[in-house]
Amino acid sequence: MSRYAERVVVVTGAARGIGAATAKRFAEEGASVAVLDLDESAASATADGLGAPKAVGVACDVSDSESVGSAVSAVVEQLGKVDVLVNNAGVTRDNLLFKMTEDDWDTVINVHLRGSFLMSRAVQQHMVAANYGKILNLSSVSALGNRGQANYSAAKMGLQGFTRTLALELGPFGINVNAIAPGFIVTDMTDATARRVGVEPEEFRKGAAERSPLKRVGYPQDIAAAAAFLCSDEAAFITGQTLYVDGGAKI
Ligand code: NAI
Repeated sequence: MSRYAERVVVVTGAARGIGAATAKRFAEEGASVAVLDLDESAASATADGLGAPKAVGVACDVSDSESVGSAVSAVVEQLGKVDVLVNNAGVTRDNLLFKMTEDDWDTVINVHLRGSFLMSRAVQQHMVAANYGKILNLSSVSALGNRGQANYSAAKMGLQGFTRTLALELGPFGINVNAIAPGFIVTDMTDATARRVGVEPEEFRKGAAERSPLKRVGYPQDIAAAAAFLCSDEAAFITGQTLYVDGGAKI
């Protein structure tokens, strides 16, 4: 399949996990891909393994406007344009409300919400000029509420409102904006959560699979496949939507 031939795709937080799988899927479908992440060498290592027509790894802290500005300039300089942006970078700082610090709150809100805002604002000028673009935000089933995740849940539901609003503002310029809300996906993030609650990752996954109607957990490739559809021209009449990719399990 080459739905993305001649397209340039930027994925944030793509050195590993869902971001890396998504970058790989776009590369397999013909896109040139920019892998943005905190650590340049990790980003470049992932970019080198994609097998994309062209791939670059770029250091970027999505919560920092200067870093975002130089990363987007570097992408445009090296790959010529931005057709697709996937706002995937994320962190968790889980704690019950009475134990949650201001730093836990600010860090999570800054990476997810401020990061998606800064990245979208930086790429929109290139998309508007081209009268073409796709922005995809990573929400979560935790948007619906999850014990110990007041910060993350607020950020992820915030991203759904952000998605809907950008769809309204940018639609007239040929830009589609959607979100994916994943359920339990096997990555370093969910393994770290398991360890934090004192459960072996394997046991944690088993529990999540048992709660799911499909009786299995999700994998980064499940999200990548949905991302590749939502950002394609086959999905040209879909905008402002949040697609839950969760095997039917809302928690
Ligand atoms: P992960 O922890 O495996 O990877 C996250 C990546 O984001 C890392 O490479 C990290 O270095 C990067 N990152 C963190 N802060 C950054 C910053 N300020 N600037 C640039 N990059 C930064 O996480 P995973 O599981 O792959 O998650 C990807 C996205 O999917 C996140 O937005 C997460 O909230 C969301 N998600 C994940 C779920 C899961 O079950 N794994 C479920 C629902 C949503």
